[in-house]
Amino acid sequence: MRIVVIGGTGLIGTQVVRFLRDGGHEAVAASPTTGVDTLTGKGLAEALRGADVVVDVTNSPSFEEDVARDFFVRSTRNQVTAEKETGVRHHVALSIIGIDRLPGIGYYRAKVAQEEALREGGVPYSIVRAAQFFEFVGPVMDMGTEGTEVHLPSTQLRPIASADVARAVADAAQGDPLRGYREIAGPEIHRLDRLGEITLTARPDGRSVVTDEDAGLFARVPDGILTGDGTVETAATRYEEWLKRS
Ligand SMILES: NC(=O)c1ccc[n+]([C@@H]2O[C@H](COP(=O)([O-])OP(=O)(O)OC[C@H]3O[C@@H](n4cnc5c(N)ncnc54)[C@H](OP(=O)(O)O)[C@@H]3O)[C@@H](O)[C@H]2O)c1
Repeated sequence: MRIVVIGGTGLIGTQVVRFLRDGGHEAVAASPTTGVDTLTGKGLAEALRGADVVVDVTNSPSFEEDVARDFFVRSTRNQVTAEKETGVRHHVALSIIGIDRLPGIGYYRAKVAQEEALREGGVPYSIVRAAQFFEFVGPVMDMGTEGTEVHLPSTQLRPIASADVARAVADAAQGDPLRGYREIAGPEIHRLDRLGEITLTARPDGRSVVTDEDAGLFARVPDGILTGDGTVETAATRYEEWLKRS
């Protein structure tokens, strides 16, 4: 199959392209770097010509709600319009675990709007809702750093290696449209402050974790939201193993 991976130059996208090529598909990365801009529509119809499937693993230039909402909704509508013109039969989008049960985070509301634009778009679709990436733990710790203290709440997460997310997205692209979503997470539930401690034990840098229930994006998220619903599928890679090899 010819599969266009929009956002195919990013963290998830580069790995999705690799998995699809390993599976014998013609996978093409598309993004502003390759002359394709989903926000303006520039280069989109040309890139989709002859494609069977489109995978959307783009990200917004900002986590600010209005910017992210405009990015995801406009990008999705432009993609769906071009897909109908060019006969694409399946659109796969990457979203976030539990987002429709977590109205308090602006960026997540923008991702819910992306899912709605896709559902309304009229192209058969699949949504992969992934848990927070292992690669995201370091930046979250940096955002919570004050001097040598890393302020993190004890919010439950079930983080996952980006490679495992990419594999699930590539699998979805090779399957039939779900017309719904699947949730994927890592094998273990951790509290975020504990994840910070595990990270600093493996890679000591003079900082230490302070449990602070009001700190950061994940403050006061109730247990059980970011760890998936009853249908969550779990990937194999454990955080401590991943830390050792990355
Ligand atoms: N971080 C997490 O823990 C987490 C968890 C679950 C789901 N997600 C979702 O995963 C998705 C991908 O994340 P990521 O970390 O792989 O992102 P990333 O590394 O920041 O890559 C973003 C990609 O989007 C492309 N892009 C940006 N603006 C574009 C535009 N106007 N038109 C077309 N492509 C554009 C970029 O292209 P250039 O390289 O050309 O700029 C790049 O290929 C996001 O939608 C995010 O919501 C993240």
